[in-house]
Amino acid sequence: MAVLFTGIGELTTNADAASPTATISGAALLVDDGRVAWVGPAADASRSGDGVEVVDLGGRAVIPGFVDSHTHLVFAGDRAEEFEARMTGTPYAAGGIRRTVAATRAADDETLRARLAGFVAELHAQGTTTFEVKTGYDLTTEGEARLARLAAEVTDEVTYLGAHVVPEGVDRAAYVDLVCGEMLAAVRPHVRWVDVFCETGAFTAVESERILRAGAAAGLGVRVHGNQLGAGPGVQLAVRLGAASVDHCTHLTDADVAALAASDTVATVLPGVEFSTRQPYPDARRLIDAGVTVAIASDCNPGSSFTSSMPLMIALAVREMGMTVGEAVWAATAGGARALRRADVGHLGVGARADLVVLDAPSRRHLAYRPGVPLVHRVYHGGERLV
Ligand code: NIG
Ligand code: FE
Repeated sequence: MAVLFTGIGELTTNADAASPTATISGAALLVDDGRVAWVGPAADASRSGDGVEVVDLGGRAVIPGFVDSHTHLVFAGDRAEEFEARMTGTPYAAGGIRRTVAATRAADDETLRARLAGFVAELHAQGTTTFEVKTGYDLTTEGEARLARLAAEVTDEVTYLGAHVVPEGVDRAAYVDLVCGEMLAAVRPHVRWVDVFCETGAFTAVESERILRAGAAAGLGVRVHGNQLGAGPGVQLAVRLGAASVDHCTHLTDADVAALAASDTVATVLPGVEFSTRQPYPDARRLIDAGVTVAIASDCNPGSSFTSSMPLMIALAVREMGMTVGEAVWAATAGGARALRRADVGHLGVGARADLVVLDAPSRRHLAYRPGVPLVHRVYHGGERLV
């Protein structure tokens, strides 16, 4: 049945090309067959016709469902002691990943599946309706294929991150061969993307390029973890290979910013990482002012950012990275969709999948203004109520 949502105090659609962050006051939105069928001022909405259910949202704000384009949700255990040590001065290092690898290898499918289901419920409760999940916490051929298969049970956006770190006791060159060969073939049926942690302590530019090219040759889209712990080659490599996104972008040179601005590669910032590793935040203002497309994601993982909260990411983006509320909401919805090369989500234009977050607030500003407060009132996915 079609549903007319009315009484929307402030509607964000991301669908006005001339004014991407604009809002509509006193709006209504018609959903038919899981898609947005009409949107505009409530006064113009036609309520006539049989079979249209009217839902009055009582003046609340509505935004598109969040698109979290970067998570690592298939793992076991946690690293709370590592976090605590970091808060008293121990720096974050890529090597901590190996601890989660050991715990994940020891967990059976049911344990990982239950954990994943818990995270999905957590995402939905906070307004996330589309999310990506990476492998990368097993690092053996059978294990990475298992993580990819489990992730594919909960999302279409699965990323192969065999190149997370070189596992303990394995020869580097042999591991890169494995990631480009047998392991890639084993995960291939379950994944859409290939990613590399291109960073000191993880993979070099040469290794990363080889792995990404192997993934692309197998038909996968390219994503890169780059420029997190220091200035490095990740951004330039991502742009050169036509990656959909390069994620972190904490340490950028002017040449990196210029390369991004001249490309179709999205810069995805992950402020949960800087919060949880006590590092300086990326300069999102510099990126936006240079004309770069910016997305915001949670990077939810047990090491560097164990939060799945997109509302928290928006609050951090506004407080710490110089973004306006409108830019931050756009980056957490439409920006995430661009980073996943998806046109059907991240906006509420006619034809979009009807993924709506109803906030218990009159304006999206409250996402930054009331940090840490559970403001998600209702969540719809394809017109079906999830929360
Ligand atoms: O995005 N960079 C690689 N992966 C994660 C960290 C993973 C971990 O520490 O377990 C990240 O920050
Ligand atoms: Fe990550």
